[in-house]
Amino acid sequence: MPTETASATTAEPAFTLDNYQVRDEDLPEFRDMEFEDINELHLDHPGASDPEYRERRDYIASLSKKFRETGLITDVDYTEEEQGIWRHVAERLEELHEKHASPFYLKAKRDLGISTQRIPQLSEMNRRLKELTGFRLAPIEGLVETRSFLSWLSYRVMLSTQYIRHHSRPDYTPEPDIVHESIGHIPMFTNANFADYSQFVGHGARIADDKQLEELGRLYWFTVEFGLVEHEGGIKAYGAGLLSSYGELSHAFSDEVERRPFDLEQVINTPYDYSDMQPILYVIPSYRELKEATRRYVERFS
Ligand SMILES: [Fe+2]
Repeated sequence: MPTETASATTAEPAFTLDNYQVRDEDLPEFRDMEFEDINELHLDHPGASDPEYRERRDYIASLSKKFRETGLITDVDYTEEEQGIWRHVAERLEELHEKHASPFYLKAKRDLGISTQRIPQLSEMNRRLKELTGFRLAPIEGLVETRSFLSWLSYRVMLSTQYIRHHSRPDYTPEPDIVHESIGHIPMFTNANFADYSQFVGHGARIADDKQLEELGRLYWFTVEFGLVEHEGGIKAYGAGLLSSYGELSHAFSDEVERRPFDLEQVINTPYDYSDMQPILYVIPSYRELKEATRRYVERFS
């Protein structure tokens, strides 16, 4: 289904897979996009019946809308309660990360300045990403339709939420939040191969037909969200869905999971269920090899 973003980008100059750097003037305008679920929280959402939480979400959503009008990111004045949720989750993840996270991720988390004590602002992380890989973050108020979300990656842009999960369930969120984004996703964008890989996926999303888009969604799921990587004879995690959830991260290294060597054809043909723990995960040999396999794959699209 065409989206505003997709149609807005078709008028842009041709964009090749070798264009790793995106200048400010190359960026299309940030316009309103189709959302899967933003204004209505599902009834089983932990914050659905908390009017104070919903009001706070609406306020933070208004900052994202303002960004699309002005192009300027407004830092969020996180409350003490919100900082407390962050500390709770970040501190618990810290120990598991030392054991299971990819060494690159651990270094990136330090370099980015992600602290267990304070919620990072998108603006400060953007300054660091700009120096390292030219990736950038753009605030968004919730889940965006898949093609729009992935297409922005072709401009080295990740749409990122700023709100935080509900305090009643600090260990759980049914949707992306600032914990998932900045602990899970954002550190990995300091990796040049991973950043380029993400850009290739985004490029693919812009030109994919519906079937190819579904396949790309699976590739994204089994790598960006739930990827494992070989490291010195062992296996480490680099997927955001693993790194931002102690339940998923512990589970990924348990006997309940089948860890398979990465095979792109197999991955794009393997369905997944987002509502449960993942029974199958794929282990890439290296970020560079993931990048090159994806480049070859996306070059088949036309
Ligand atoms: Fe994610």
